[in-house]
Amino acid sequence: MAEDKGKEMKLVTCTAPVNIAVIKYWGKRNEELILPINSSLSVTLHQDQLKSTTTVAASRDFKEDRIWLNGKEENINHPRLQSCLREIRRLARKRRSSGDGNSNTLTLHHKIHICSVNNFPTAAGLASSAAGYACLVYTLAKLHGLEGELSEIARQGSGSACRSMYGGFVQWIMGVKEDGSDSIAQQIEPETHWPELCILILVVSAEQKPVGSTAGMRTSVKTSPLLKYRTEIVPKRMKEMIEAIKRQDFELFGQLTMKDSNQFHATCLDTFPPIFYLSDISKRIINLVHRYNSHFGETRVVYTFDAGPNAVIYTRKQHVDEFVEVVKHYFPPEENGEQFLKGLPVNPVSVSEHLKSSIRMEPVKAGIQYIINTRVGPGPQLIEDSNLHLLGEDGLPKQ
Ligand code: DP6
Repeated sequence: MAEDKGKEMKLVTCTAPVNIAVIKYWGKRNEELILPINSSLSVTLHQDQLKSTTTVAASRDFKEDRIWLNGKEENINHPRLQSCLREIRRLARKRRSSGDGNSNTLTLHHKIHICSVNNFPTAAGLASSAAGYACLVYTLAKLHGLEGELSEIARQGSGSACRSMYGGFVQWIMGVKEDGSDSIAQQIEPETHWPELCILILVVSAEQKPVGSTAGMRTSVKTSPLLKYRTEIVPKRMKEMIEAIKRQDFELFGQLTMKDSNQFHATCLDTFPPIFYLSDISKRIINLVHRYNSHFGETRVVYTFDAGPNAVIYTRKQHVDEFVEVVKHYFPPEENGEQFLKGLPVNPVSVSEHLKSSIRMEPVKAGIQYIINTRVGPGPQLIEDSNLHLLGEDGLPKQ
């Protein structure tokens, strides 16, 4: 946190993680407050591989609030952005009047500049809005000296963003109150809880998705009978999933994760007109995972897909090297010099003929663009190094 008294500009920079749901959120009961029709549960990914970074500057010299996203100035009047700004300011005023904490009065009266970047493709189904809004809310809170529960505010930026306010294993409790005050995220276990758990993101397409989640779930709520049925079975699934995580029961964790992903995509197909997020390559990945597991007679790798064709694979350390090799074999990379494996390193191993003969699938060249190898990670972080601010001394983006 830097404060330049002369120019009265205060700068704060933070980072926030991506989360990938294993019990999916799909459908709202209140569009404006972003209240879901079911609880959900996710794993927070490590920020060494995927993160949003946000700098907020407050100065009496600023004429208006402004925002730059991934290098481009955007409209600050976006309703969800305004909800987050309004709610943070409201909370800061409330805490100040109750004499709580070290809430900063100076910054409350100043206009702010916001600059945010992701180190991964936006809107590619890699939950960029979750990391983005979590980062914005966390950074604004630090600017105003606010501590404590903030997921209720992040939720009003993007539903899944509330889960990115914590590291490790996180549930978003749907809540029952009309004002949404009990619709919050809670950590189930910290990032250190299950050290063997590994995550591979198979990037099938980095293009923008055809139907965004907000519009998609709105149509599903209106038209899908399967989604109504889903709300009845999710409570039991949530309980089982929490148990599986607490016990580090990969078999149960994996079965529930795959079934919930499949049910979410079945709901998309049950939506009218139907929504297709899975591509042919996604379906091949699903088959590959099932054949791989059935060869070994146990659940070694599991898949889940969000509102896009990219697969997120959960597995354990002892299977990462082999599964990456299997993916390379069935989706041989394009030889265009682009790195196929990003993130944490893997050791090259050979895939046995026996395994290949049980999988029996035709390889598809360049079906997968690249793999990101990552693990479970912590929640949002304050960046102390002032060289890393995205806004310069003039309050404008550095590049
Ligand atoms: C399929 O949180 O992006 O990734 O609340 O409208 O912003 P809004 O939707 P968003 O939806 C995420 C849907 C999902 C499942 C999940 O992350 O739980």
